[in-house]
Amino acid sequence: MDDINEIENSYRNAISSAASLGDLEKIRVKGLGKKGELTELMKSIGSMEEAERRSKAPKLNALKSRIIGEIEKKKELITEDEIKKSTNEEWLDISRPTRPSQNGKIHPISQVTDEVVEIFSDLGFSIAEGPQVESDWYNFDALNIPPEHPARQEFDTFYVNSNSDSESPPHVLRTHTSPVQIRHMEKKGGVPCRIIVPGKVFRSDYDQTHTPMFNQLEGLAIDEDLTMSHLKWTLEEFCSKFFEVPDLELRFRASHFPFTEPSAEVDIRCSWEDNILKLGQGDSWLEILGSGMVHPKVLSACNVDPNYFQGFAFGMGIDRLAMLKYGIPDLRSFFEGDVRWLDHYGFDPLDKPSIRSILS
Ligand code: PHE
Repeated sequence: MDDINEIENSYRNAISSAASLGDLEKIRVKGLGKKGELTELMKSIGSMEEAERRSKAPKLNALKSRIIGEIEKKKELITEDEIKKSTNEEWLDISRPTRPSQNGKIHPISQVTDEVVEIFSDLGFSIAEGPQVESDWYNFDALNIPPEHPARQEFDTFYVNSNSDSESPPHVLRTHTSPVQIRHMEKKGGVPCRIIVPGKVFRSDYDQTHTPMFNQLEGLAIDEDLTMSHLKWTLEEFCSKFFEVPDLELRFRASHFPFTEPSAEVDIRCSWEDNILKLGQGDSWLEILGSGMVHPKVLSACNVDPNYFQGFAFGMGIDRLAMLKYGIPDLRSFFEGDVRWLDHYGFDPLDKPSIRSILS
């Protein structure tokens, strides 16, 4: 058994002089790894004579567990030492200022959408959505804009290619959020309703106040006895809260949309002094939205009985609202993705819109 003692001593010596966890691991692999010395010895038990095995096997097993035990003990010592060393050497100056970090900004369109949604939620409107690629039916026909109607030309529509063997009219990128009126009303239990629809719309146009993609907010309220005066009150309430001007004056100007009858465009009283826009005072008027009473044909297209139900709808440009409220001169800059622009016109993430602060 001398060799067992010898082996044990040589491992104990090596383990006690190991200076790091790395050294220790090398020793473990040398003895107990797949091809380690001790592993090989353990393997040899299988080929021993019965008598030899009886005497040697328990000793070898005991040796193996003693060496594992030694390695574990040493591991703890080294780890403790390393922790002590690092707590002595490393230190943290908690009085130092933090590193500068760059905060992201909320895009004005997101901010204004949140503001608008909050105001209309308070008035009992909920949010509805619809697809951006629309069929001809939802974008035009169901809204009382048949194929030969001149209003189709006014929209500068983007058409989506259809298969050459397709007989149906091509799909379009929706030119307004009004198709969501149809999608909502035709659903089971779609009316009565009070909904708003914020979303992207597309028209082939590009200058300081037009971009091929922009954002609209549609509103729709349908019930048994809604009238033009409900529409007027709703829009006055919205505009004075949104622009934070308590006695904002609106002008309803007779207009025409195929899907509303009567129709009105709505202007806000304002003034321009030294190129600065002031809302609520002055002799100028600024157009901000289109609206009207939902046309009976539109209700019929959704299988809603126009003898029983009626209501109002309106549509406005979210981007335009943002430009007016926050004095942003060029619509195109909204979509250029310039971080310097966003840094200037964007909002801090915690600057949550609150109509409470507007009302008080
Ligand atoms: N859809 C119209 C547009 O894009 C706006 C509108 C909506 C007008 C609802 C009246 C009623 O110009």
